[in-house]
Amino acid sequence: MTKQQPPDDQPQKPSETALPSEDPLYLGRTAGQRGAEILAGIRALVLNSPTARTLSKPRGRVIAQMMMTLLPHNTAGLNFLGVRTSSMAELVKVAIQDMAGPTTIVEVAAGFSPRGLELAFELPEVQVIEVDLPDVVQDKRRRLRALDLPPNITWKEADLGQVTLASLLEGQQVSAIVAEGLLPYFEPDDHVRIGKGFFDNLLPGGVFVADYLWVEGFEQAKDGARFFSRQAGQIKGMVESEERPKEILAKAGFQSVDVYRPSELAERFDLPRPVLDFELIVAAHKPVKAG
Ligand SMILES: C[S@@+](CC[C@H](N)C(=O)[O-])C[C@H]1O[C@@H](n2cnc3c(N)ncnc32)[C@H](O)[C@@H]1O
Repeated sequence: MTKQQPPDDQPQKPSETALPSEDPLYLGRTAGQRGAEILAGIRALVLNSPTARTLSKPRGRVIAQMMMTLLPHNTAGLNFLGVRTSSMAELVKVAIQDMAGPTTIVEVAAGFSPRGLELAFELPEVQVIEVDLPDVVQDKRRRLRALDLPPNITWKEADLGQVTLASLLEGQQVSAIVAEGLLPYFEPDDHVRIGKGFFDNLLPGGVFVADYLWVEGFEQAKDGARFFSRQAGQIKGMVESEERPKEILAKAGFQSVDVYRPSELAERFDLPRPVLDFELIVAAHKPVKAG
């Protein structure tokens, strides 16, 4: 996600998404943080998981409930986020199962998502690293204080607009990188650069899993999406077709890119249905051999 880096001895400006902005509902300091809070609230409602509930706050749950009333086909709209979160975990698990050697999953802009922790519990031989802005990571760890945390999850506090993922990982290439609810904050022109950054940090055969907001899905749930965007920041990046993520990620170096509708993944992984196809979910594979 990092643009040109100034030399280390010069003060760096925080990235736009890390700046405080108006918070009329007292949800969080930055737009992304408020988005993370609403998403945590929705997950507490739709995922039957104690971790998801622990990671949400009462205010986030109330706002989530309000937002839900704006969605069409209520159950399908509600199911969308649960399916997005769970199916992205499933896609990672499928992709890493045949990879040799130590396995590391990195979740960037993890917010208050329970996925990293749930993967760490489920896959004790896998290392999970979550990255987010310092105040979000600190808040998340406070929320998790009462739980017995597994030893294979760690957190890194960083503004990914200031620090490259490569420097944060100290050059370690990883098996999977997950970014949920992140790409819509960036202009489509930035998506190739962001994808390339993730590509470089993956091991050969590694996978990048992310969601892309798409025009057709957005049209179906405009009111809910606008409400979310008013609290959680401007939506900048939307794709017009199912082919577009493939074109973007091919330019970033990924040769094999699978693009799914959430309803397809709900069917495949036996997740709650019906589900609104609000976004597209992508698993992009780094070639095993260079070239
Ligand atoms: C819409 S939320 C999504 C959170 C989480 N992935 C989820 O699905 O609930 C966007 C997240 O990006 C994080 N974020 C925004 N700008 C960032 C930056 N420059 N560096 C690291 N994280 C950032 C926010 O703090 C927030 O947690």
